[in-house]
Amino acid sequence: MLKIVVCVSGGGTNLQAVIDAISNGSITNARLEAVISNNPGAYALERAKAHGIAAFCISPKQFENRESFNQAFLQKVDSFQPDLIVLAGFLVVIPEIMIQQYPNRIINIHPSLIPSFCGTGYYGLKVHEGVLERGVKVTGATVHFVDEGTDTGPIILQKPVQVEEGDTPEVLQRRVMEQAEWNILPKAIDLIANGKVTVKDGKAVVAKV
Ligand code: GRF
Repeated sequence: MLKIVVCVSGGGTNLQAVIDAISNGSITNARLEAVISNNPGAYALERAKAHGIAAFCISPKQFENRESFNQAFLQKVDSFQPDLIVLAGFLVVIPEIMIQQYPNRIINIHPSLIPSFCGTGYYGLKVHEGVLERGVKVTGATVHFVDEGTDTGPIILQKPVQVEEGDTPEVLQRRVMEQAEWNILPKAIDLIANGKVTVKDGKAVVAKV
């Protein structure tokens, strides 16, 4: 049974998709141990509690400096001995020591087709603003392992989404979530939980199902 800790900063619709997929059996061999947020107001914490999942807030504001926050955050994550850490809209830079401690065991969902519209500065609505500004016709979402870079780790799954005439960043964000994110994040977790994902030469290899 894969033990999962989910880290979130906001609404938690991706978290909800994972909770639902575990309940309806589309994710097997996995259990949500805890949800951790940096933001006390994150609605994701309510979603977790409503489903009987342990929910915690560790805010940088509670600490004197980044180093102490990082330590407390890592300690909390470690306390669950997770097999997989899922960043589902987590707007905190993951401490490097944590990345080294959990190689290919941290995944992130990014709302574009990496390597487009990713890296420093591309988060939340900014990604979709960039897409509309450039005028690309296809965007999408990516689930990838987290390495020391920003959105540079091995890509596990991607799904394209059409950009439509007249889209606003908000409308596009919603479509990318509905058509891609809520689909590929649970799918990636199920693949990992069932031993279907390996990393070879810096690339994720997904076994045929
Ligand atoms: C998603 O678009 C995710 O890709 C991004 O942040 C958003 C989180 O949304 N990194 P939610 O909290 O899951 O509703």
